Amino acid sequence: MERQPRRGHRTLQRLGAPLTAKLRIDEETKLRIDDKPKLRIGEEAKLRIGEEAKLRIDGIAKRYGSVVALEPVSLEVRAGELLTILGPSGSGKTTLLQVICGLVEPDGGRLFIDGHDRTAMPVHQRDIGLVFQNYALFPHLTVGENIGFPLKMRGRPAAEVRERVAAALEMVQLGHLGGRFPRELSGGQQQRVALARCFVYQPAIILRDEPLGALDRQLREHMQIEIKKLHRETGATIVYVTHDQEEALALSDRICLMNHARIEQVGTPQEIYAHPRTAFTAGFIGTSTLLRGVVEGDALVTPQGSFALPAERLEGKAALVIRPEHLRLGVGENTIAGVVAETVYAGAETRLLFDLADGTTAVLRLPTGMAAPAIGTAVQAHWATDAAVLVPL
Ligand SMILES: Nc1ncnc2c1ncn2[C@@H]1O[C@H](COP(=O)(O)OP(=O)(O)O)[C@@H](O)[C@H]1O
Ligand SMILES: [Mg+2]
Repeated sequence: MERQPRRGHRTLQRLGAPLTAKLRIDEETKLRIDDKPKLRIGEEAKLRIGEEAKLRIDGIAKRYGSVVALEPVSLEVRAGELLTILGPSGSGKTTLLQVICGLVEPDGGRLFIDGHDRTAMPVHQRDIGLVFQNYALFPHLTVGENIGFPLKMRGRPAAEVRERVAAALEMVQLGHLGGRFPRELSGGQQQRVALARCFVYQPAIILRDEPLGALDRQLREHMQIEIKKLHRETGATIVYVTHDQEEALALSDRICLMNHARIEQVGTPQEIYAHPRTAFTAGFIGTSTLLRGVVEGDALVTPQGSFALPAERLEGKAALVIRPEHLRLGVGENTIAGVVAETVYAGAETRLLFDLADGTTAVLRLPTGMAAPAIGTAVQAHWATDAAVLVPL
């Protein structure tokens, strides 16, 4: 079956078409190109992610002296995908990103872009766009000059620079603002300019290392929506580093969760939230109650009692992970008892924290409108066996 080129790809190709070639386009071709829909937030977004790997990391490892920054890690990023690398500080996220763009040489392993081995290729030949934390726009250059900068650096002729800058501006829907200076733009617009400056030389992959880290929450959430829109509009392949689990859940097609220089789990936000494979994943993404124990037959034996196992089967030390929305006050299939330690009001929901006999803190979401039991009250809570997830310890 013939693969349909994606809209974003086409525009990237157009951006990249040498001007000379463009001038030679006959009328018929020109018509065909002009007929193509303009880049917009499209319904085809859902079909966008390709099956092929845009980027393949195969056993990449990196040490700094005695510090292991990356254990051998393997990962595939699909064409058109927005993949976030999520993890606590020091888990190896930046190192992985630097290896991908060629700023850091790995000790071992190989890296492929579009199926070609790029492990030894220097940074500037690698066809990768890097957007820095503060966007790094030049304050004394206009938006248009900022976007054209990478092309000027590459010695492209002025006419081609103009052409491609105009197309890149249109792509990020800032066509009318090319003459402004960065300080005359909103944060969201600056974000778009920084991306346009990446798109202008049509890199195969765009990398972003904690670009929203410094912003306050409201602006960050606004920017996350901007990034999602831009990603949908352009069909670009983006690898995005963050330590913020909410940001990763909000933005990602898939999340690659890292911990201690290793990849802990890769999956869609929904997969990772609903089916954490380790206690670390369960704890890092979302909130949960962790009941630790030992598997004996069909039950997990814990200090709180014996509980039925969900579908997963493990041996030895393990824990049941129960999300707050699956734990309800009262007695049921599986029941734990504790003493109310805290109630946390978060607007849309209220969470009740209660301490179990062995010191474990359990957390449940109170039904809307229900008054929270007073601190110090004894409570019981229950969950359906299949709502829990079993992870190894
Ligand atoms: N240039 C370097 N020299 C020495 N150690 C480094 C260097 N870069 C990173 N590290 C170490 O490698 C580990 C991973 O760092 P990094 O990739 O920056 O993590 P993250 O981006 O997840 O916070 C950390 O222990 C860090 O201290
Ligand atoms: Mg980092």
